[in-house]
Amino acid sequence: MSNKREHIPVHQRPEWSALKSQCNGLGDLHMRDLFADDPARFEKFSIAIPGALLDYSKHKITGAVMNDLIALARACDVEGARERMFNGEIINVSEKRAVLHTALRRPADEEVYVDGEDVVPFVHKTLFRMRDFSNDVRSGAWTGFTGKPIKTIINIGIGGSDLGPRMVCKALKSFEIRQSQACGQTIDIDVRFVSNIDGDAIHERLQSCDPEATLFIVASKSFMTQETMANAETAKAWLVDALPDEEAVKHHFVALSTNEEAVRQFGISPDNMFAFKDWVGGRYSVWSSIGLPICCAVGFDAYQDFLTGAHAMDHHFQSAPLDKNMPVIMALLGIWNRNFLNYPALAILPYSHDLRDFPVYMQQLDMESNGKGVDRYGRTLEVKSGPVVFGEAGTNAQHTFMQLLHQSAEIVPTDFIMAARPNHPYQDHHTQLLANALAQSQALMEGQDNKDAPHRHFPGNRPSSCLILDTLDAYHLGMLLALYEHKVFVQGVIWGINSFDQWGVELGKTHAGTLIERFENTQKTDTLDSSTAGLMAYLQEKFINS
Ligand code: F6P
Repeated sequence: MSNKREHIPVHQRPEWSALKSQCNGLGDLHMRDLFADDPARFEKFSIAIPGALLDYSKHKITGAVMNDLIALARACDVEGARERMFNGEIINVSEKRAVLHTALRRPADEEVYVDGEDVVPFVHKTLFRMRDFSNDVRSGAWTGFTGKPIKTIINIGIGGSDLGPRMVCKALKSFEIRQSQACGQTIDIDVRFVSNIDGDAIHERLQSCDPEATLFIVASKSFMTQETMANAETAKAWLVDALPDEEAVKHHFVALSTNEEAVRQFGISPDNMFAFKDWVGGRYSVWSSIGLPICCAVGFDAYQDFLTGAHAMDHHFQSAPLDKNMPVIMALLGIWNRNFLNYPALAILPYSHDLRDFPVYMQQLDMESNGKGVDRYGRTLEVKSGPVVFGEAGTNAQHTFMQLLHQSAEIVPTDFIMAARPNHPYQDHHTQLLANALAQSQALMEGQDNKDAPHRHFPGNRPSSCLILDTLDAYHLGMLLALYEHKVFVQGVIWGINSFDQWGVELGKTHAGTLIERFENTQKTDTLDSSTAGLMAYLQEKFINS
């Protein structure tokens, strides 16, 4: 049930006005002075929980600002909204759905009800199937049509049906190698991902595969996404051409979806389908059967640890007081930076090669969730919502865009993410990596005056957070993802938006459908704007008609 307090637009709340006054009162205050004035600033503005530390002392905040931000969170009923999400209420109002990715990481003895039905047994039944299937694939018990064990898995999906598993598989690779070396067992399965409709993507993947030893995982919540279905059809044709028998599909294709009918129509039997429910949003689906490629790549035990780590973060989010609550604090800092200090972007810099795909994962999580222009009641938002998110693995970022972050007039708050312990044996590399991360955060905050050579002047006063995980294993990776999910959720609650729909992607999809037909039928383009018509004519001349 929605709460009356939610209906007040955030900019009309007294807590919002109080924060505006706080912001005006800060004037040209420099963070250097805040640190000089208070030797305990780090202790005051950091949170340590088992497995992770968040230092947010290098933000342009004072104790009074933080108090007012917490008051804003309370006024917006973040605590009530949080419980409504965890309890399975219909909080995705435009799609009339509960939002229950958190149920996917609940232990088997807990209960969560949707429409009067406890969904946890379904979740664990699916997990058992994922365990058995991935064990069979990894052990060689699951064989292709001609009896060969599987050597290559190609996950075909896009957006949430690609980015989560792709990122997690990469992130846990070093961890998995270290684990398997320790127990003297190496599993030789290559898990690859195809998302783009560009034929080069699937062509490149298929070229180097042995059809007899390749398994395709078609991942799509809707099983209707144009890019995914086109790639899946191409893969099916390639397979049936190579092992000339339709029967081969049974041995080489599995589906991860909510749409059994479409899966069947594609030619995959429900026995080879791992279902999930519509209360799992695409960008929140890595915890559902969409995680199957992860189980195949790094083993089911690691996937289970990943869920357990996320559940630990859920518990922290649900139980810690707001001022000691990591996702809440991160969300509030984002609101402060976006709405009061007017910083339009957020850089996410994992100082971890294994987390190099984390920024793009975060782009979908944050921008598809909170890149909205109306609130949950359909009113135009009077405040800015989600920032532009971008990032790159450190230290590569230092050699690409950090110049702008240090000296441009545009200020970009930055999240530095580190793991205290590495998964590799090169300690000196890790020392250098960590030193670089801390140095960037320090330099952004302190800056350096240089009156003689303006090009060497660093203004500083640029905010950043440092998030340190104990190590990058499956458990801590689960914590990390759940932390950012909840951060995005809290921001959505404060802005009053529905973070769980994505209507903004629809118009382009519809236009693409129409233009595909026009390209294929070389129809007249006279009803199109002159730019689109001109471009189509040019392309038809250069390619389609050539
Ligand atoms: O980008 C739009 C979107 O609907 C995402 O939200 C989703 O993750 C992606 O497309 C893929 O959708 P599906 O899993 O249904 O193929």
